[in-house]
Amino acid sequence: MALEASEMKKIVAEAAVDRYVKDGMNVGLGTGSTAYFAIKRIGELVAKGFNLTCVATSVQSEELAKECGIKVVDLDEVDHLDITIDGADEVDPSMQLIKGLGGALLREKIVAAATVSEIIICDGSKLVDKLGVKTHLPVEVLKFGHLHTKYALERQGCKAVLRMKDGKPFVTDGGNYIYDCKFEAIEKPFFLETRLDVIPGVVENGLFLNTAYDVLVCRPDGTVMSMADEAANKKE
Ligand code: A5P
Repeated sequence: MALEASEMKKIVAEAAVDRYVKDGMNVGLGTGSTAYFAIKRIGELVAKGFNLTCVATSVQSEELAKECGIKVVDLDEVDHLDITIDGADEVDPSMQLIKGLGGALLREKIVAAATVSEIIICDGSKLVDKLGVKTHLPVEVLKFGHLHTKYALERQGCKAVLRMKDGKPFVTDGGNYIYDCKFEAIEKPFFLETRLDVIPGVVENGLFLNTAYDVLVCRPDGTVMSMADEAANKKE
């Protein structure tokens, strides 16, 4: 019988922690409903005596980590992170990603850049042939002049919608707005990223390119597949 989505999230999160987190590491804590289960598992390791120094990608994850007894420090208190375990919204066959539906893309990208091995965890519903086909691309923008930023985003070929929460614009942990940009498909993600990065007012975009070291995917039967292992096996 196929598993529920939350069961798959728990299985893949625990598999990632058990495979990649070692005693003494500096660990980045992701954000979202899949990363939630990874933080819980890391809490279990800490309770067993693992000495881990962790950095959170959002206020929400930091609060959860503290509830789980995990030591959380600011990113600037460590010179690097060995591992970060985080979710994703879309994953293409070469492990390029869209992230940020949870609104934490800016901190997630800064933490990923400080990480040696970024591990992505998801279920099969996140796998796509081309980025942008299922979901929108979140883009974090400054509040100042945000309508002008929206017009510039739309000139890249998308429909940009200001993210709302409880009837008001959603505000990120960094104090910015998010535009959710729907493209039909993102044919050239590396090119698009360069176009987005030069728009005044854009703080960060949700394309995470050449970021993932491995993507672990839980299948409906509960088995976990590593995209890095699959790619290595194909080469042999
Ligand atoms: C948070 O900003 C996102 O990047 C999440 O990592 C992403 O939305 C995946 O979340 P779920 O695990 O809840 O699907």
